[in-house]
Amino acid sequence: MESHSTYVPKSGFAKWFESRLPIAGLVHSSFIAFPVPRNLNYFWTFGAILMFMLVAQIVTGIVLVMHYTPEATKAFASVEHIMRDVNYGWLLRYLHANGASMFFIAVYIHIARGLYYGSYKAPREVLWILGVIIFLLMMATAFMGYVLPWGQMSFWGATVITNLFGAFPIIGEPIVTWLWGGYAVDNPTLNRFFSLHYLLPFMIAGVVILHVWALHHVGQNNPTGVEVKSVKKDTIPFTPYATVKDAFAVVCFFIFFAWFVFYIPNYLGHADNYIEANPAVTPAHIVPEWYFLPFYAILRAIPSKLGGVIAMFGSIAILAFLPWLDTSRVRSSTYRPLYKQFFWVFIVCVIGLGYLGGAPAEGGYVIAARILTAYYFAHFLIVLPLLGLFETPKPLPNSIAESVLENGHGGPALAAGATAAPDRKS
Ligand code: HEM
Repeated sequence: MESHSTYVPKSGFAKWFESRLPIAGLVHSSFIAFPVPRNLNYFWTFGAILMFMLVAQIVTGIVLVMHYTPEATKAFASVEHIMRDVNYGWLLRYLHANGASMFFIAVYIHIARGLYYGSYKAPREVLWILGVIIFLLMMATAFMGYVLPWGQMSFWGATVITNLFGAFPIIGEPIVTWLWGGYAVDNPTLNRFFSLHYLLPFMIAGVVILHVWALHHVGQNNPTGVEVKSVKKDTIPFTPYATVKDAFAVVCFFIFFAWFVFYIPNYLGHADNYIEANPAVTPAHIVPEWYFLPFYAILRAIPSKLGGVIAMFGSIAILAFLPWLDTSRVRSSTYRPLYKQFFWVFIVCVIGLGYLGGAPAEGGYVIAARILTAYYFAHFLIVLPLLGLFETPKPLPNSIAESVLENGHGGPALAAGATAAPDRKS
């Protein structure tokens, strides 16, 4: 895409500064003049919602750390101290704990949007893979964060998941001892998890910068999946249109978030985590947080431990290969009648796996989890490659503007009888 910096420094100081560090021009071209496809729907606001959640987690986390003690005999009590004694400590903790869930709700919608509209296809492969890396980092961060309150689920969850690395022959056991910093999950484990839980969000922020950079380089996809042909006709400027829409979506999402924080703050958590960690008492059911359940189901579906570990990591890694596994030339499901149906079957499959991940690993549940695990991989390895060869897509619109006019959604500038982004060249 062409450069969209139409920024002209006004004051003498701004001119002096801009010629030395052109940051105002960068912000202007990225968040003011940046051309946004005029037909984006609300699913395109989740990137902004995710940015908001990342900042919210970092800010609440930094204040929590001021009162938290990362030491095995004091951690649990320090969290209770935050809840009872620290001014608005309960609010900080509930925002942070529920914020993790909200972050995952938003990221799952963001990923599903990408799957539905084919946003991972060329030229957005790197943008997509950076997303998969962010997702992995988010999972590691959330997992280590859950260990910090040092409740029963913290301790036993950490024990189960770190033990998985023991499945590898020969190197398995030394790896687990190395991860633990000893011969069981204990104070050294808590310490290193604390250190990494603090570090990783900043690494996520770094990868998000690359993610957004890649996005600005290739431009946004849109519900038609057809590339922007004329900046003048197909796009509108980021500000005010996307800024205002994103801000509205963030406020709505925050209301949803606040409803959890103020009315059902423990709904997404597990009661056992209000019992201090006790290495001598194993809880009846060790379950991870809801957002890990589909992957937990895949892990338990495979009869061998090593196979389960490989399948679980493979289920995420396979996402990185999606741009090459999907052989269709058409991006958006809107014009792919068969893929649209398989997309929903896949969503039901993942939700089903989530349900099974929370159910006991026995009898019919395990059989169902095996079937759904097989389907999960078949979706990527069989359905997607074949669909591209056999599916007949619907005719694509010639341009974004044409599809908008056909559907009768005039869009802001068009409704006013003007062409979009009058200050820019096409
Ligand atoms: C902290 C987490 C993340 C943040 C802050 C973030 C941020 C953003 C932003 C601001 C956008 C542009 C607005 C939008 O399309 O919603 C975007 C687009 C995109 N993101 Fe993310 N993202 C995150 C995670 C992910 C993940 C996990 C994936 C995939 C595995 C992903 C894949 C994409 C793709 C493919 C696009 C381009 C979409 C399009 O133009 O149609 N992102 N992201």
